[in-house]
Amino acid sequence: MHVKIADDVYWVGAIDWNLRIYHNTYSTHHGTSYNSYLIVDDKVALVDAVYAPFSEELIEHISEIIPPERISYVVVNHSEPDHSGALPALMKRVPKAKILCTDKCKGYLEKLYYPNWEFTTVKTGDEVRLGRKTLSFIEAPMMHWPDSMFTYVKEDSLLLSNDAFGQHMASSQRFVDEVDEGIVWEEVAKYFANTLYPFTALIKRKLDEIKDSGIPIKMIAPSHGVIWRKDPHRVIDKYMYWADGMAEKKVLVAYDTMWENTAAMARAIADGIQAAGVDVKACRLSASDLSDVHKDVLESKGLIVGSSTVNNTVLPAVAPFLEELKGLRPKNKLACAFGSHGWGGGAVKVIEKALQQAGIDVIQPGLMARHSPDRDELKKCFEFGKRFAEAVKQDEAPAKPSASVILGE
Ligand SMILES: Cc1cc2nc3c(=O)[nH]c(=O)nc-3n(C[C@H](O)[C@H](O)[C@H](O)COP(=O)(O)O)c2cc1C
Ligand SMILES: [Fe+2]
Ligand SMILES: [Fe+2]
Repeated sequence: MHVKIADDVYWVGAIDWNLRIYHNTYSTHHGTSYNSYLIVDDKVALVDAVYAPFSEELIEHISEIIPPERISYVVVNHSEPDHSGALPALMKRVPKAKILCTDKCKGYLEKLYYPNWEFTTVKTGDEVRLGRKTLSFIEAPMMHWPDSMFTYVKEDSLLLSNDAFGQHMASSQRFVDEVDEGIVWEEVAKYFANTLYPFTALIKRKLDEIKDSGIPIKMIAPSHGVIWRKDPHRVIDKYMYWADGMAEKKVLVAYDTMWENTAAMARAIADGIQAAGVDVKACRLSASDLSDVHKDVLESKGLIVGSSTVNNTVLPAVAPFLEELKGLRPKNKLACAFGSHGWGGGAVKVIEKALQQAGIDVIQPGLMARHSPDRDELKKCFEFGKRFAEAVKQDEAPAKPSASVILGE
């Protein structure tokens, strides 16, 4: 069913209720939606298509409003298959429509679909008049691919932002204020943490550029999830906060263990953090969903990673977490490693090296215990947790405290 979102602007996308994994890596507990928008004026424009299996739904939703043949422009904000997959089916119905997209997007679409469509490439500031309404384009590289752009409907102060500001969330409602906002914000954070985190510098520059341009934004309609119509600047501000490397004064202790020795260390560290009055989450990686853990990394100023040593290295559940961190490159974390070992050890060093490769400044040396940590070692873990929490409480962005301050040596 289509939904009117502004005068002569309609949501005509598709709801994917059952998607549980996206990019084959990212868990989507609430499903998702692929949002397409139809702007009906003297000329008709469709902004973004949907994922290929939903092509017929898109065409049906458009047909509820106008004969699809009336479409003059198909704007492709981003070529990734979740937003372009339906193009081959759609373009068969509207072969004369012009595709409007960035030059990079054109190149990607050509390599994805080998099409014979008519393209007009656009840059920031280019405009297309539909009649009463004007589409204006803003290139937004790496939000989420190099080809990405936003489409701005001037007369409605409506920003069609594609992946940016979206959330993987299936819903029969179309607006943020109609659903559980707690879930929306969790999904916004999870999206940023798992998809956009490596590109914070570019994101910051783009958001500054949009703010400085002074264009009014009354509504942000992304291409996943629900639409921001009440104070949409809230989500821009949240992106700014993360892009600035800010996070809440919380600590994430992410670890794994075979015989509970490292778990005992994790508990003592977490108790110390809690005793200092700082919010802490201790998560065992082999029992956790990695994409959820990355959301906690984004939202926590402190990150403590632990593993016992197995064959000189970390446990198998810790390795993919560290590998993903190297790609996601979290900003401004206060970080440390810990773990139990039996003889030569090695896991703590592997963690420290991986964190450094992820661009994280690590407090070294990490905390180590042999076999089961004894009373003294557990006390040391507790005290370490307390001091670590005190450092997290400081207001200034994580200037790295010296190891002796944190480790108490
Ligand atoms: C299969 C296996 C391989 C291990 N490899 C190493 C190793 O290479 N170096 C080391 O110091 N300890 C090694 N250990 C010993 C563990 O690190 C030690 O038992 C540790 O206390 C386990 O902590 P956990 O209960 O947190 O898993 C190994 C243990 C197992 C079961
Ligand atoms: Fe994307
Ligand atoms: Fe997407």
